[in-house]
Amino acid sequence: MFITFEGIDGSGKSTQAKALVEALKSQNVPCTWTREPGGSEGAEAIRKLLVEGDPNRWSAETEILLFNAARRDHLEKTIAPALERGETIVCDRFVDSTRIYQGVVRADLRETVDIMHKTMIGREADLTFIIDIDPEVALTRGLARNSGEDRFEDMGLQFQKDLRAGFLELAKQNPERCKIIDGSQSMEDVGRDVLAAYESAQP
Ligand code: TMP
Repeated sequence: MFITFEGIDGSGKSTQAKALVEALKSQNVPCTWTREPGGSEGAEAIRKLLVEGDPNRWSAETEILLFNAARRDHLEKTIAPALERGETIVCDRFVDSTRIYQGVVRADLRETVDIMHKTMIGREADLTFIIDIDPEVALTRGLARNSGEDRFEDMGLQFQKDLRAGFLELAKQNPERCKIIDGSQSMEDVGRDVLAAYESAQP
């Protein structure tokens, strides 16, 4: 199974992606955690270009090309081989982030993102968790981390509000694949909801 986690910056999705991997491993499900941008040596090098530095460093169009370059390498080196070995992949962000960050909020480029994805990547997740949270809470949490990877957080609160609306709309358009999880709860309760939604998605 190919599982992705999505959400605005500081939503807690990275913690939840790792918690799901631990839960699946404890059920003896062979499982690999990975992330985007990144997840392979080449893609991690491209990540640095994308998440650090001035918010105006790249246009939305250039970002689409860089995210896709990173994603293609990640797919070839990490995702496809793990799925072929029969493992479940849990990926922190995937193409839905490009659809919303670059395709809807940074610019009106959703069709370009979809065409590029179909041509160069051609794979969708089987199940996507969208961790939904108040952007003010998330932004405070995200910036407090001082990770040095704040390029998108530095785009401001309205940017995060627009992202949230974009992810909720995406979930509405893809109700089978996308499960919205209330990220305002305690970490344990969010994890419990993720696991319950995972279990009910099993054939
Ligand atoms: P992360 O902080 O969740 O690791 O993600 C890095 C940043 O990159 C985050 O601010 C979201 C952004 N991003 C996009 O804008 N488009 C994408 O396609 C991906 C994967 C991430």
